Amino acid sequence: MAGLFSSSTLEQIRAASDIIDVIGSYLPLKRAGANFVALCPFHKEKTPSFNVNSHRQIFHCFGCHEGGDVFTFVQEYENITFPEAVRRLAERAHLPLEFEKDPGQQKNRFFKETLLQIHEQITQRWQAALANEAAGQIARDYLKMRGVSDEAVKLFRLGYAPDAWDDTLNWAKNKGYELPVVEQAGLVLRKEGSDHYYDRFRGRLMFPIWDEQGRVIGFSGRVLGGDEKTAKYVNSPETPIFTKGRVFFGLDKSKRALLDAGYAVVCEGQLDLIACYMAGIHNVVAPQGTALTAEHARILKRYVDEVVLCFDSDAAGRNAAIRALDDLLASGLAIRVATVPTPHDPDSFIKESGGAAFQQLISGAEGFFDFYLNHLCATNDVGQDRGRLGVVRAMREALHKTGNAVLADTYAQKTAQRLGVAVDAVRAEFKKARSPQKVEATAEAPADAQEPQARPSAQEFWLLKLLLLDDELPGWAVARLDLNWVQHAVVRRIISARLAAQPNGRWPSATTLLTELDDATARSLITEAVSEQREIPNRSQQLADTMKRLRDQFVDRQLAQLVQRMNQPDAPDSDRIELLKQQQALRQLKQQPLVVRQPNPAS
Ligand code: CTP
Ligand code: MN
Repeated sequence: MAGLFSSSTLEQIRAASDIIDVIGSYLPLKRAGANFVALCPFHKEKTPSFNVNSHRQIFHCFGCHEGGDVFTFVQEYENITFPEAVRRLAERAHLPLEFEKDPGQQKNRFFKETLLQIHEQITQRWQAALANEAAGQIARDYLKMRGVSDEAVKLFRLGYAPDAWDDTLNWAKNKGYELPVVEQAGLVLRKEGSDHYYDRFRGRLMFPIWDEQGRVIGFSGRVLGGDEKTAKYVNSPETPIFTKGRVFFGLDKSKRALLDAGYAVVCEGQLDLIACYMAGIHNVVAPQGTALTAEHARILKRYVDEVVLCFDSDAAGRNAAIRALDDLLASGLAIRVATVPTPHDPDSFIKESGGAAFQQLISGAEGFFDFYLNHLCATNDVGQDRGRLGVVRAMREALHKTGNAVLADTYAQKTAQRLGVAVDAVRAEFKKARSPQKVEATAEAPADAQEPQARPSAQEFWLLKLLLLDDELPGWAVARLDLNWVQHAVVRRIISARLAAQPNGRWPSATTLLTELDDATARSLITEAVSEQREIPNRSQQLADTMKRLRDQFVDRQLAQLVQRMNQPDAPDSDRIELLKQQQALRQLKQQPLVVRQPNPAS
């Protein structure tokens, strides 16, 4: 990844991007001794455990273990790729960037930028049409009728796409865009078998859709009047910059509020979200009518650990809540469901009863499993065995997805009570194996896929810390340390890289290692190790002690293996004698101080 840019380019950008300035432009940083602290933007917390170290130009969160350098921060915070983060920082520092040598990459990047530019410009064009043009009157009337304020129109950059087949087309031609590019942007369509193009969005109220950084990447257009046959919403197709299943409408504006509130209100549509937002409920996102995907759940999980699903009161809304189930449950997010009274949706409810009443609805939202149990009891014939079994099995499948035994038992009781059957019968049914197909779905849950490996042992971590913090120690360690003593693979990788002297004879710094070791676990361990500012006395003695302890643990593991081999019933006596000798040697080794190993080829 880093290979796209020359290391001198990276160093130049790094030097021009002080981590305190950069992070400080995203979050309020407070000085705390030599470090700066803030509430962590990567997980929810009430007291700051997010540390920025000016001297080392790194950050580390002691809560969620996210850590890295200035590039990592921008990458993670903005949810962009490494090359994009580099580009962003280069722009910020007004540094020219030696772009990728690969012409394919270059073209691709240029193409995406063109698409973004088209989106931004047509947004402005449609905003102007809504604000000023005579043809926009119909949209202005509609917004008035729906009670959408001027302030909301401005904030959400609503627009009007004129009712014509060639309005966007002519606009694009005037701007000098090539039509196939505008087609790829999803704004115009091509008549099959010809090279005639026509507008996708005609006579519609336009909602721009943003990525998390607030760049317009697509549109949703609502019909104004029209007959029953016209689709209520026309949306951008999937394009190189827009993937529906990965985007939440409104997230660019609600990020901070999500972290503060700790939960997300999930509405179905744009107008619902806008109504919530304008009523002061800012911790809200909208997946825009699609089912919530695993990717959606993963995005939410970065900000909150609970969601309140707030769908329409109709059957479609209820089904949407249930459809959202699979990926949400597997993600480990807690779920509640707010039921908006019929015939409302959040938008109309807020218009009629106000934001406070809506907030009450949210606060009183029932737990997902209560909602689901109600729903199942209403849709199964619980007067019959078959219906009751249906309820129990559906509850079992859903509860299994959470992998939460306490929850399962609570709902075994509630389900039994509700159905008037013995709780033991329900428990027994809950214990039965789940259907294999469902097992698979849960096994693929993203939460599990990204679980970091086990923590290193205290000694391993201490060793890492000493070696990274002190430039005098690696020379001593490199002559005496056997990397086999370190069991944690990532710690071993980091130490091995740290102990490889550079051509100039110096040891690679933590910063260099962060760039070299492109691995989240490694990054987190490095930044954690060097972030803590505590003064460590007697470092060389501590290093010697730690290494000796690790060596002895290694020897103990070998001894255990020997004993196992000796206990094998069919081992010949000659082997057994050999093993005994080895055992003795190992025991003696534990009495020895650390010795200098063969001369280190690297120094
Ligand atoms: N939607 C869509 N395509 C449709 C219908 C709906 O993409 N043909 C999406 C839109 O994002 C919409 C959401 O699903 O906002 C919810 O649909 P719906 O409840 O029907 O619309 P509302 O948002 O309530 O819009 P309105 O209040 O204007 O009827
Ligand atoms: Mn609505």
